[in-house]
Amino acid sequence: MKLPKTVKIKEVGPRDGLQNENQQISTENKTAWINQLSESGLSYIEVSSFVHPKWIPQLADAAAVLASIERKPGITYAALVPNMKGLEGALSAGVDEVSVFMSASEAHNKNNINKTIEDTYPVLEEVVKEAKSAGKTVRGYLSTVIACPYEGEVSPEQVKRVADRLFTMGIDELSLGDTIGVGVPTQVEKLLEELLPAFAAEKLAMHFHDTRGTALANILKSLEMGITTFDSALGGLGGCPYAKGASGNVATEDLIYMLSGMGIETGVNLDQLVEAGAFMESILGKPLNSRQMDISRRT
Ligand code: HMG
Ligand code: MG
Repeated sequence: MKLPKTVKIKEVGPRDGLQNENQQISTENKTAWINQLSESGLSYIEVSSFVHPKWIPQLADAAAVLASIERKPGITYAALVPNMKGLEGALSAGVDEVSVFMSASEAHNKNNINKTIEDTYPVLEEVVKEAKSAGKTVRGYLSTVIACPYEGEVSPEQVKRVADRLFTMGIDELSLGDTIGVGVPTQVEKLLEELLPAFAAEKLAMHFHDTRGTALANILKSLEMGITTFDSALGGLGGCPYAKGASGNVATEDLIYMLSGMGIETGVNLDQLVEAGAFMESILGKPLNSRQMDISRRT
């Protein structure tokens, strides 16, 4: 098996993780948590979203969070933006990178951002253009790349069509989301076989939700196929409130455990992550869902 020497982890816990938590967490506690994450060796943290506060109330304090965190040199602090209003907020808050997002399936796109796929393109096109002229790098997210909670299976060809449009807009990287965590390695293989002849592996990231326990297996398949960037959330937090049945992302600490055991460098310190996980457990008043957190509670 040919494996990379290093892998880049993009921590999405403060955004994807917290957006799915009903209990409102204070700006102060979010800030303290992000500051702990910044100390763990992560080089990329997605801190929040500039979306409509009615759609995602938990992240209504995005600007305040960005204003209060201590920014460590070398770390990219990113946020999601759905449209120009979101971009304006993100730029005034001084994000390092913006992430635009849409879905490969019509029904999830409509449920999540209230637009058809076709109507989403011009909105994101303008966002990408303006973000670029403001000197920002732009990440794209494509959701439901394996299946949609409303429409069922999504074909790799459909994923490629939408991915093509996003790359043509000028995004720097595309994160492929198994939003509801249904995928298995053979499906990931088919998807990447379709995409890799068209897009460089370095331009793709994988974003696996772990609803059915297949995320690490899917990551291993992606690694074998040349992908070296993965999204994950501390404590396996996460889920999209507009994707029925979605649950947490693959846990960063379980991913780090696997990669470091395979001799793959991530630069992330597992003990510090577990410490940051314990802090979030105390805030949420419940155990986080990862093998490494389980082990730390038992020892
Ligand atoms: P809309 O209602 O169609 O928006 O929502 P609109 O453009 O018609 O505007 C309606 C009102 O919203 C206006 O205010 C706008 O100013 C305001 P009014 O004039 O009525 O007072 N508005 C905004 N306010 C604050 N921030 C904004 C904004 N935009 C408009 N950015 C919209 C469309 C996209 C805004 C809405 O559907 C939305 O916020 N959706 C976000 C949903 C979301 O965050 N989902 C989770 C993230 S995606 C995800 O988790 C998947 C991912 O992890 C990958 C994976 O797992 O697959 C990334
Ligand atoms: Mg997600």
